[in-house]
Amino acid sequence: MSQPQSLDAYIDGLPKAELHLHIEGSLEPELMFELARRNGVSIPFDSVEAVRAAYDFSNLQDFLDIYYAGANVLLTRRDFEDLAFAYFQRAAADNVRHAEIFFDPQTHTDRGVAMETVIEGLWDGMTRAENELGVTSKLILCFLRHLDEAAAFATLEAATPFLDRIVGVGLDSSEVGHPPSKFARVFARAAELGLKRVAHAGEEGPPAYVHEALDLLHIDRMDHGNRSMEDEGLIRRLAGERMTLTVCPLSNLKLCVVKDLKDHPVPEMLRRGLHVTLNSDDPAYFGGYVNANYKQLAAAVGLTREQVTQIARNSFEGSFLSESEKARHLAKIDAYAA
Ligand code: ADE
Ligand code: ZN
Repeated sequence: MSQPQSLDAYIDGLPKAELHLHIEGSLEPELMFELARRNGVSIPFDSVEAVRAAYDFSNLQDFLDIYYAGANVLLTRRDFEDLAFAYFQRAAADNVRHAEIFFDPQTHTDRGVAMETVIEGLWDGMTRAENELGVTSKLILCFLRHLDEAAAFATLEAATPFLDRIVGVGLDSSEVGHPPSKFARVFARAAELGLKRVAHAGEEGPPAYVHEALDLLHIDRMDHGNRSMEDEGLIRRLAGERMTLTVCPLSNLKLCVVKDLKDHPVPEMLRRGLHVTLNSDDPAYFGGYVNANYKQLAAAVGLTREQVTQIARNSFEGSFLSESEKARHLAKIDAYAA
């Protein structure tokens, strides 16, 4: 008699989209060393093991300090291509069929790397991924919220020659003290340019920031959103609007947003009808790509096969793919689940 397929094996084969992935956060220590050598950049570690040992964070800022330092090795168009293609190889191995990836241009332009170098390099990696791995992707330009509104406007301006490469804008970096309201005018300009809008909200920041992201940034999708669960009215609103939440369990664990994966709000989010997706955020820093997020969360909170399937469906429904592309992916999930 054949054994029933385990949930882990089911997750491995399930087609999925990844909607919350910082490409700079997919820089594995091995590639960091290779790029440091190639570019003659020094890094404050003597081994890959020493880099990994430094990845012990007590909050978001702890992580961001190391993450921005790591990005210093990225200089040339080829570096950005190699970074992106390495991510897509990992994603393809997890049966990610489509990814909408964030990049932080200010982390690079503030070091003298041209916007064109960053975008065209990532685009080279994305094109290769589609041709060689069959993984499609879109690019989301994130503003660093610890920097000011003028810097965000300048970044949007610098990106305007490349708008055909970018599907939308996002908001990331240090959340507390930098509410969405600070960027309301930049997001309004992005909307005029025809760009989609997403924002990190409620990762460490209060429910009021989630309200601001909805009311002032007019977001199409919310990144994290964990602290929405503290506000009854907000939960009902997010469910009613079918707002997609890009939730990142291993990130939440590593950044102490949750003490234990067993305490993760995903089961309650699902029970309340929220449109949850699972994502890896910064997988090189948080210890796992998308399937590790599905599997470890499923094991910790006891997700069913039906819930896992629903989450994968949500990932395509919440993407910025066309309706026909969404339908094609959803049909593949249905065929797989059957
Ligand atoms: N930049 C990269 N990862 C991030 C996260 N989880 N939150 C905010 N900014 C980020
Ligand atoms: Zn993130």
